[in-house]
Amino acid sequence: EKITISVIKADIGGWPGHSRVHPQLVETAEEVLSKAVEDGTLIDFYVATCGDDLQLIMTHRKGVDSSEIHGLAWKAFEEATKVAKELGLYGAGQDLLKDAFSGNIRGMGPGIAEMEITLRKSEPIVTFHMDKTEPGAFNLPIFRMFADPFNTAGLVIDPNMHMGFRFEVWDILKHKRVILNTPEEVYDLLALIGAKSRYVIKRVFPKEGHKIAKDEPVAVVSTEKLYEIAGEYVGKDDPVAIVRAQSGLPALGEVLEPFAFPHLVSGWMRGSHNGPIMPVPMHQANPTRFDGPPRVVALGWQISPEGKLVGPVDLFDDPAFDGARQKAVEIAEYMRRHGPFEPHRLPLEDMEYTTLPGVLKRLEERFEEIE
Ligand code: 13P
Ligand code: 13P
Ligand code: MG
Ligand code: MG
Ligand code: MG
Repeated sequence: EKITISVIKADIGGWPGHSRVHPQLVETAEEVLSKAVEDGTLIDFYVATCGDDLQLIMTHRKGVDSSEIHGLAWKAFEEATKVAKELGLYGAGQDLLKDAFSGNIRGMGPGIAEMEITLRKSEPIVTFHMDKTEPGAFNLPIFRMFADPFNTAGLVIDPNMHMGFRFEVWDILKHKRVILNTPEEVYDLLALIGAKSRYVIKRVFPKEGHKIAKDEPVAVVSTEKLYEIAGEYVGKDDPVAIVRAQSGLPALGEVLEPFAFPHLVSGWMRGSHNGPIMPVPMHQANPTRFDGPPRVVALGWQISPEGKLVGPVDLFDDPAFDGARQKAVEIAEYMRRHGPFEPHRLPLEDMEYTTLPGVLKRLEERFEEIE
């Protein structure tokens, strides 16, 4: 029997500014999801937060893209938005870009990562939650987990992983996807995903012959682009991911190891700056310096045989990640000294919001030809 894990998240108001989620929003979402457990729609749930994003982590038997589950998430966000409005929170309902739910939450503003899986004898998973960045921020760490032997020892020493994996990569501009095999096509894969604002890893699958069926994802990332839905900047996409671990997959510590390096991602202030992503426990996921720097939280779970979420374990609550946090602070300081200069500020083509298009328009008639 298959179980589906759905992580659906949205920013429905910050407290204050874009810093964090007010606890009353969490309570409201919990009430809505508790009723769904009572009436049998959900098996289990947990409501988490990362920065100003509300994260619904749910297990059920309805498969991916279920209108019932998506409708439930939409309802939880709508109810919490009412509270956000009452409290006057900043950007109440920010990521709810459509008025009425019509069957699928994709393309409506929230971010979604879902996988339907056949539970193994033991099913360890990690859900990752990022704030102040975009889906391409997962390219580097997901690549390293499933394709880099300097990160994942299992690729070299575990016969069950030796064959490698398959990466589903989306071209988010052209709405196309391609599947690339590692290790054979590792350079092609890197050629694409190094351009992280355009090509994003959507899923990772095992290869033929792995003990997990070839069509069952072992990792999935939310890739919704708010900008494309709204037509203007309405905050960053702040992505989530689900990763399965152990027994022929990266060990838990191999899944977390990429985050010991706080790599540069785009987002941060006004979604318009490059900065380091800082791995933090939940209580430190409150970006405030220049609205950042960007954060990532990792929650560890065992899925029980009935599909219950046994957790969360706050995985970056480990002094072994203090070095990465300190390095992120140093890089943040270094980047900040550039003020409005690239490469701290994003290049022109990535400037999604702020007054820049308006400034350029205002100066238009003052530009003259150079002899
Ligand atoms: P334990 O002996 O603690 O179970 O560790 C096994 C392992 O493979 C760690 O990566
Ligand atoms: P969020 O996407 O987290 O709301 O951030 C928006 C922003 O502009 C921060 O400066
Ligand atoms: Mg916000
Ligand atoms: Mg956010
Ligand atoms: Mg956002």
